[in-house]
Amino acid sequence: YVLGVDLGTSAVKVSAMNKDGEIVAQQSFDYPLSQPHPGYSEQNPEDWVSGTTVAIVRLILDDQIKPEEIEGISFSGQMHGLVLLDENRQVLRPAILWNDTRTTKQRHEIEAQLGDKFVEITKNQPLEGFTLPKMLWVKENEPEIWAQAKTFLLPKDYVRYRMTGKLAMDYSDATGTVLLDVKAGQWSQEICDALDIPMSMCPPLMKSIDSAGKVSQSYALFSGLSTDTEVFGGGADNAAGAVGAGILSPNMVLSSIGTSGVVLKYEENADVDYHGVLQFEDHAIPDSYYSMGVTLAAGYSLNWFKKTFAQDVSFDEMVESAANSGVGANGLIYTPYIVGERAPYADADIRGSFIGVDGTHKKTDFVRAVLEGIIFSFKDIMDIYDAHHNDFDTVVAIGGGAKSPLWLQIQADIFNKKVVSLENEQGPGMGAAMMAAVGLGWFDTFQECADKFVHFGKEYLPDPKRAQQYDKVHEIYGKVYKSTSELSH
Ligand code: XUL
Repeated sequence: YVLGVDLGTSAVKVSAMNKDGEIVAQQSFDYPLSQPHPGYSEQNPEDWVSGTTVAIVRLILDDQIKPEEIEGISFSGQMHGLVLLDENRQVLRPAILWNDTRTTKQRHEIEAQLGDKFVEITKNQPLEGFTLPKMLWVKENEPEIWAQAKTFLLPKDYVRYRMTGKLAMDYSDATGTVLLDVKAGQWSQEICDALDIPMSMCPPLMKSIDSAGKVSQSYALFSGLSTDTEVFGGGADNAAGAVGAGILSPNMVLSSIGTSGVVLKYEENADVDYHGVLQFEDHAIPDSYYSMGVTLAAGYSLNWFKKTFAQDVSFDEMVESAANSGVGANGLIYTPYIVGERAPYADADIRGSFIGVDGTHKKTDFVRAVLEGIIFSFKDIMDIYDAHHNDFDTVVAIGGGAKSPLWLQIQADIFNKKVVSLENEQGPGMGAAMMAAVGLGWFDTFQECADKFVHFGKEYLPDPKRAQQYDKVHEIYGKVYKSTSELSH
């Protein structure tokens, strides 16, 4: 077996998979999130270790997975979270997480100090959520802690360290620190120097499929695992999610609807320049990359609508009721900026809108407008690919958008592309398990592994007439941002 450890923000989920790509057992464990002030979001790294360990112990004791049959372990990690260790490798303070936004001042300091050079080196903007601004925040606000900090890690790297005793970070997560010179594949001396961060704090880099070593004696005693089990690098959750969804070639794009939404594209090389409008990261597949745009309120928009206006029906009933409206929701347009936006507009102040409300509109038109508005926002991100002549032909839909045939067809019509869902959608934990499977040599390539592990489901093809109608509505949708941003600022 291999274990895929999906270290999320609310829980860790550990899946045991066999060589046929089947999940033989799965355990999860929740841990708390601490939000002591507005914009703050922290977690105790010890909770990740104990949660992962409890899940593993349960796989062994409750599910009867024999430790000697677990050949490898790998990870999918919540990205960007800052873990600081002292010279004895003790954790110095709670981890500051990806969704912590206390760092606007530090973001502007980085921009002022490095200007365009920053995006050139890291291929990203120094957004609040990323790791580097968090390091500067600690440096400025907790100098006594900063003075003791000798190493920084990301969440899953800390768990791997506790399993093996080895400090390391994989490339896909390292890009998300925005301290990496992406083209060179090394920590950026220039950024460290400009911001006075000792290079010695940056951990050794490794590939997702590289082994960090075997389970240490002490962790074997603690967890029941065998010291013969190999522990691999693993990757960032978005990279692992993409691997688990079969996004392994440039003609594939992921459309993922969770609370927020993600459009993610496999990139063959780092030559394409999105000027930081899209995030650009190393993929978990060695020597490849992915770009990604985030719509902040995707599933969140629907949840908000349901909670506010449709408590009397089930979620599925509400979504399916949109079939009673029509293409373009009978002239009603929704923009999903209800908590601000990240891509294609990095705009924390913008807010959402319903445009064109008519006395004949029914609730079903509003539901349809919300489903369409989320997808129009994804289409805006895909249009950036078009503008860069970065073509693709297949969209793999996962998450909430993949649960409804109606919403899948709306995606195909708006994107004007083939949309497929997955038969066995398992999320990033499966991608993590695949990294261990390839790392162990069960498969020579990720593609071979995906042929066994990833099963595509039904295909949805665009209808030319509806695609044309949606094109017109999308054009009007595009104008709403410009008009409402004047009102929001
Ligand atoms: C990506 C991001 C989130 C986290 C969630 O940049 O901030 O997707 O990775 O864990």
